[in-house]
Amino acid sequence: MPATVIVGTQWGDEGKGKVVDLLAADADVVVRFHGGNNAGHTLVVNGEKTVLNLVPAGVLHPGRICVLGPGVVIDPEVLVGEIEGLRARGYLAEDRWFRISAQAHLIMPYHRAIDRARERLRGAGSIGTTGRGIGPAYEDKMARSGIRVGDLFDEVGFRAALERNVREKNAYLQALLGEAPLAFDAILERYTTYRERLRGFVADTGAELRAALAAGRRVLLEGAQGMMLDVDHGTYPFVTSSTCVSGAAAAGAGLPPRALGAVVGIAKAYTTRVGGGPFPTELTDALGERLRADGDEYGATTGRPRRCGWFDAVVVRQAVELSGVDRIALTKLDVLTGIDPLRICTGYELGGRRIDGPPTTERAWEQVTPRYEEVPGWREPLGGARALDELPLNARRYVERLESLSGAPIRLVSVGAQRDQTIRRGEIL
Ligand code: IMP
Repeated sequence: MPATVIVGTQWGDEGKGKVVDLLAADADVVVRFHGGNNAGHTLVVNGEKTVLNLVPAGVLHPGRICVLGPGVVIDPEVLVGEIEGLRARGYLAEDRWFRISAQAHLIMPYHRAIDRARERLRGAGSIGTTGRGIGPAYEDKMARSGIRVGDLFDEVGFRAALERNVREKNAYLQALLGEAPLAFDAILERYTTYRERLRGFVADTGAELRAALAAGRRVLLEGAQGMMLDVDHGTYPFVTSSTCVSGAAAAGAGLPPRALGAVVGIAKAYTTRVGGGPFPTELTDALGERLRADGDEYGATTGRPRRCGWFDAVVVRQAVELSGVDRIALTKLDVLTGIDPLRICTGYELGGRRIDGPPTTERAWEQVTPRYEEVPGWREPLGGARALDELPLNARRYVERLESLSGAPIRLVSVGAQRDQTIRRGEIL
């Protein structure tokens, strides 16, 4: 059976974590294929909250194999902390349940320093990155000067690569960014400790994954961020530094494209984004604040308040087309209770004219205005509904309207953070 891909259809934070956790109950392997600890999943299982930044969201199901594929960038300090935190709570009991690609690139302290210094220098025009060194790590990967997980185990090679990199980055940090240099010895010492703590997990994960699929195992490929943060297809330059659409899943996991099957797109019932950049349906008024408060819209990684706004069907429809989404999981419908009327963005206008899809330049993104459709809201709390016909009529109509505007069937509706606060509408895996 081909692997199922799960991607975000907005600007990230769509609630992928909850959906991956649910679907992992019926899967054997869960793989991250891009991004790093810029991502953050908040999972609530039996009333207990777990925040994950790197380990895939299948980890709360003992026995699932969780994988970080070659397309991921890994900050070993964060990863070691996350593994130890999970183990202290009884998860990841066996080493073989967690696999790390030897080909994944390492995030180094100079990547974080460069990320943060550049953001400071950009001032008002900053991207609003997570400051985790993601962009600089991917830059080094593409410049072919990066250091990979597998290199940690070649002591001589690692030392040489680190020396070269620290020399170059320190020159850059000091001369162009006005920062203090980093100490080579301290980095070497620290990364030497990660070597032993990660050794048991490192593997050729692509080969293992291909073998798992050949043996009939069910594989989930868990996307991070969302389509609008994709480096090619998003609101460039206000994007992350990896490819977030489903097309990246094969390469980032080490699989051929024909190994991919269904594509699940996760969409929140309204829209949020964190960081700078265009957001046509943003609500900067009390309603936006209400969505933030009711939806607990604060970054799982950085704690930053998320910007909130109406559901934008232009964005989700584009994600459906670009990622070949053939089923949608709609999250956080319950948060809209009490907002009446609701608005849905059905299209954009640019220079007084209706445009079909999202614009493709930074300037046009700044200038588009949304066209809205107004629909009636509902007052009842939704957290107890377990079937679509248990929802108030207007909530049901809202779901149906989003479905017809998005272009793919909504197969799952989430009405709360708990696993069981979920409405299934047909097959999702
Ligand atoms: P970076 O990925 O840290 O370089 O940040 C680039 C942009 O992507 C910023 O606007 C971040 O807020 C945003 N971003 C990165 N990861 C996530 C995520 O997992 N959820 C939401 N936004 C994210």
